[in-house]
Amino acid sequence: MIVLGIETSCDETAAAVVRDGAQVLSNIVAAQHEVHTQFGGVVPELASRAHCEKILPVVEAALRASGISHDQVDAVAVGHRPGLIGSLLVGVAAAKALAWTLGKPLIGVDHVHAHLFAGLLSAAPGADSPDIFPALGLVVSGGHTSIYLLHSWTKLERLGATIDDALGEAFDKAATILGLPYPGGPNLDRLAQSAGADDRAADLPISRLAPDSLDFSFSGLKTAMLYEVKGVPAHPAHRRADSRYQPPPPLTETRRRDLAATFQRTAVRAITFKLERALLQLRERGVRPVTLLTGGGVTANSRLRRELEVFASGSSLRLFLPELRYCVDNAAMIAGLADRLHAAGLSHELTLEPVPTTAC
Ligand code: KG4
Ligand code: ZN
Repeated sequence: MIVLGIETSCDETAAAVVRDGAQVLSNIVAAQHEVHTQFGGVVPELASRAHCEKILPVVEAALRASGISHDQVDAVAVGHRPGLIGSLLVGVAAAKALAWTLGKPLIGVDHVHAHLFAGLLSAAPGADSPDIFPALGLVVSGGHTSIYLLHSWTKLERLGATIDDALGEAFDKAATILGLPYPGGPNLDRLAQSAGADDRAADLPISRLAPDSLDFSFSGLKTAMLYEVKGVPAHPAHRRADSRYQPPPPLTETRRRDLAATFQRTAVRAITFKLERALLQLRERGVRPVTLLTGGGVTANSRLRRELEVFASGSSLRLFLPELRYCVDNAAMIAGLADRLHAAGLSHELTLEPVPTTAC
């Protein structure tokens, strides 16, 4: 089955053609960095306008690059939740128009669930379709940090999620605190990998929350990072007496590098800690996941990739880690998951609506 996928939930306009849920025939992603860089973050109204301009050229480019003609497409898939509502509207409208014009089924896909599928994509023909359930799932992106138990592609349980910042957001803010340019996450990763970086230069906290919690919190880590760089503000009432106040060491290149490495080690440990806890809890429930499905922009992080491999092999889980090009938002993951959803009997009417929040 040939699926044309469309993704416009945030600031990437993307289209892809995928055969049989695994073989990526084309994957076009038009980023909008130049539109948003000057504002230091995504401006929703500008994002939806840019999607309007790019959506048709991007879909045509994806079809051309795949060598597939319009009438060879078997289904049209679109990420219809969660995301920025104005951005989602553009992709959903385009997908509906295409599905109606071609007379093919329309399949709405949850963007976060699609990130979990990204590790199964391959450019090679005949990629295997392994027995992957029950699976432990991890999505770490700019907007989401969640752990899942997947019984199938249509039956997912969200076990935990962030109660404040997403992991990617925390990386981006830490990068800003260190004075690194946009995009923060990849720049912090690069700096943390510098030769000689000391990843224990400061004592940064990991929020464990309640003993059985599988949720995440990164606001304390972010604040601790801010205090390392700017110093701990003295309480106004004790400004002169507070002996704990220490001006911070100067932010030299060496200290910047060491703090980047320390932040990265701590943030990654916060993830593996909760994965270990999740696995323990699942085993207590008598559930034995056989795979670990991962996805989202932060799975591009070099340290997280290494630590996920260590965790998975130590826990006898087969790890699906997306290729770098499928970590960030893309439409191949949408088309790939849509193939499995269609096989499970799912498709949508042309009344499909964009939804800004996720179902689970
Ligand atoms: O999945 P994605 O493209 O968008 C969302 O759905 O949110 O993820 C983007 C996020 C950004 O916060 C970006 O800084 C982060 O992923 N990111 C990274 C790395 N590459 C991308 N964070 C840490 N290390 C990286 N190498
Ligand atoms: Zn995403």
